[in-house]
Amino acid sequence: MSATNNSGKYFTPPIDPATPLPDIGQERIGSARFSSRDVMQREWTHLWRRVWNIGPRLEEIPEPGNFVTHELGKESFLFTRDGAGEVHGFYNVCQHRGNVLVPGRYCGKERFLQCPFHAWSYNLDGSIKGVPGADDFPQFKDGLPRDELGLEPIEIDVWGGFIWFRLEGGGPALLESLGDLPRQLAPYRIEDMRLFEYKTFLWDSNWKVACDAFNESYHFRGLHPQMLKWADEKARIELLGEHSRMINKYGTTSSPYTGGSEVYPELKEWLQYSGMDPDSYTGPPEDTWQAKVEFARQVQGQPGVTVPYEDMTDEQLTDVYHYFIFPGFAMNVFPEGINGFRYRPHASDPQKMYYDLIMLVHYPEGAALPCERKFFDHKVRYNEVADQPLSYIVTDVLQQDADNVSLNQRGLNSDGFRGMLLGDQELRLRHFHNTLDRYLAAD
Ligand code: FES
Ligand SMILES: [Fe+2]
Repeated sequence: MSATNNSGKYFTPPIDPATPLPDIGQERIGSARFSSRDVMQREWTHLWRRVWNIGPRLEEIPEPGNFVTHELGKESFLFTRDGAGEVHGFYNVCQHRGNVLVPGRYCGKERFLQCPFHAWSYNLDGSIKGVPGADDFPQFKDGLPRDELGLEPIEIDVWGGFIWFRLEGGGPALLESLGDLPRQLAPYRIEDMRLFEYKTFLWDSNWKVACDAFNESYHFRGLHPQMLKWADEKARIELLGEHSRMINKYGTTSSPYTGGSEVYPELKEWLQYSGMDPDSYTGPPEDTWQAKVEFARQVQGQPGVTVPYEDMTDEQLTDVYHYFIFPGFAMNVFPEGINGFRYRPHASDPQKMYYDLIMLVHYPEGAALPCERKFFDHKVRYNEVADQPLSYIVTDVLQQDADNVSLNQRGLNSDGFRGMLLGDQELRLRHFHNTLDRYLAAD
């Protein structure tokens, strides 16, 4: 297996499994953090307001006049593209009496935004446009004080095709805070991917329960036993500043399925999902990934193929690179796209959260599909709500994860639970909680 790039343009370093993992502690991690309102409040002031948060996709506001709303904790935000094409971020609140300015819809296109309460209106650049009955305001007798009446801006930046935002300045710039991630992720060209599925679910757990659930593959054996037939359960793990990653090989097997002669139906489905003829491979099941490498090398660079296979190492063609961007975003990165998981705190209940499933793909040229964001506040079956044809090997795993978070939350609330005992395969969880603790302990 080649560790170098085909094109040589980029280099995403592999993780050497022989590199010893850092010792960052062994003690149990207490579970009060998953239900405490005090912790929730401190997370708001000391974490969410201070970090770069991942917001909407740029493609959600492609044209002048487009706007999109985004919620985090108690706040609603508004991202707009003004008449000159410039992107802005604001608190989604009218400066008259504090009504939410744009309620109840994710996105749209308007010449201006009008508050539903008393019809004050704002331009897409956040400036005040009009105040009905302005003559009745003695404050405005010399004209509208435009500097004082505009929407409250927030700091924004763009990376990977996402709009990022921060509520308190003073920390590192976005690129600095992402550390080595932009370099490692450059060959995937996430900025050129487009939305494929975009769904938000209200879950019955603290947001950190979901973070922890997705940041290790130790749970494959218990929660996703079918994955042992088509993936390596053992992850290679690396901590990257506040962030981290793990790499699992797909198109292979874990015990007890290694050493057999059958290419399992799940492996065939994986081949098919990767765009291949599932019957084209007849070798040992654990080496199925080799067929994907051969396939990708054959099709790379052909007319209409927009997946940047040529910029990937062989390992990147078959292995899933799972990146966690502190504090609330994780993604499984494939050459063809990403499955992104954004974890957002609830406005008031520490035992609820919003989970955004954000799937992006490199569509073939001219074949991008419209993707509408949808919200579900009740339990659903993924294979019934998916807008695009998703393989059962994907939806089954997502379903198992979704169904388990409330069980985990319930047990974490128990007086009989002694705290989380984490092994090496769960190192990223400890790193996450250590990092969070540092934020919460700061002034
Ligand atoms: S609160 Fe918006 S116009 Fe009155
Ligand atoms: Fe899972």
